[in-house]
Amino acid sequence: MQDLKSLESGALARIAASAGETALEAARVDLLGKKGSISEALKTLGSMSPEERKANGPVINGMRDRVTAAITERKSALADVALEAKLSTERIDVSLPLRPEMVGRIHPVTQILDEAIAVFADMGFAVAEGPDIELDDYNFTKLNIPPEHPARQMHDTFYLKPKPDGVRHLLRTHTSPVQVRTMMAQKPPIRIVVPGRVYRLDSDQTHTPMFHQIEGLVIDETSHMGHLKWILEEFCRALFEVPKVEMRLRPSHFPFTEPSAEVDIRCDRSGSEIKLGQGNDWLEILGCGMVHPKVIEMCGHDPEKYQGFAWGMGLDRLAMLKYGAPDLRAFFDSDLRWLKHYGFSPLDVPSLAGGLSR
Ligand code: DAH
Repeated sequence: MQDLKSLESGALARIAASAGETALEAARVDLLGKKGSISEALKTLGSMSPEERKANGPVINGMRDRVTAAITERKSALADVALEAKLSTERIDVSLPLRPEMVGRIHPVTQILDEAIAVFADMGFAVAEGPDIELDDYNFTKLNIPPEHPARQMHDTFYLKPKPDGVRHLLRTHTSPVQVRTMMAQKPPIRIVVPGRVYRLDSDQTHTPMFHQIEGLVIDETSHMGHLKWILEEFCRALFEVPKVEMRLRPSHFPFTEPSAEVDIRCDRSGSEIKLGQGNDWLEILGCGMVHPKVIEMCGHDPEKYQGFAWGMGLDRLAMLKYGAPDLRAFFDSDLRWLKHYGFSPLDVPSLAGGLSR
């Protein structure tokens, strides 16, 4: 008995003195491993008489349990100490100033997007988004562009393989399918802007296979072209941070609007950069119109009751125009030197009160 007592106290002392995980593991093997001293003590039970075993069994098993518990406890205490040491040596000081040479830049497209959203949000528009991989039905059919409609050819669409059930996905060619998604999901009044990537098989100095649009949609019972014109004028004025932008609406055609118009702004393209508010050139910046009654109907609303307008605008072109970048392809080359030159500080968040692009 005395032996067992000193065996246990020795074991507990050794566990308590183990300074690290390795020492603790060595102690565990020496005590509880196959040839460990406590395991050996347990083995002696086998050669005892039933009475002896009855008396000694609980004593030895109890000792084994207490030693096992002590090891578990010591293990978790050691882990706590190790974690504590790690945390204190790996601490980062979040109050340290930024190293200027390490600061990234905001891409002009992100910048113009943030600016456009600041302007539209101030007018009361909510931001809606949709997927880049879109259903043919939403990109075309529900926008009054049925299969075989010539407008489908004009869109130079990237198609995905049709599914076995015949459903065909594509890379959306414009942000207009989000009009459909929004009208199908909510009741008017609707006032949204939809920024996002769009895709067309096209590439030259002013076209890239992926580019960005911002769409607008207003559906209620009274909104008309006059409201649309005011919104677009105010938008251009605020975005370009000038007192006046000269705009012209040209009659046009889109299957999903009636009547439809294209909007140009006056600019000068005689030099290497496009300049706004002067010169004799016009730059087309967007398409717009009154949402076609058929579209309102296909999206689940009564065209006798509801009406409204929509527009779609190329964001990259606006960025080229505002920041004087001549080649659109450079926008997507990921050249850090270009980004350093044309990019914006991440700490200057655009707001109408603070100035959009300063
Ligand atoms: N989706 C058209 C395009 O990408 C642009 C557009 C025109 C959008 C008229 C509209 C609109 O919402 O009303 O060419």
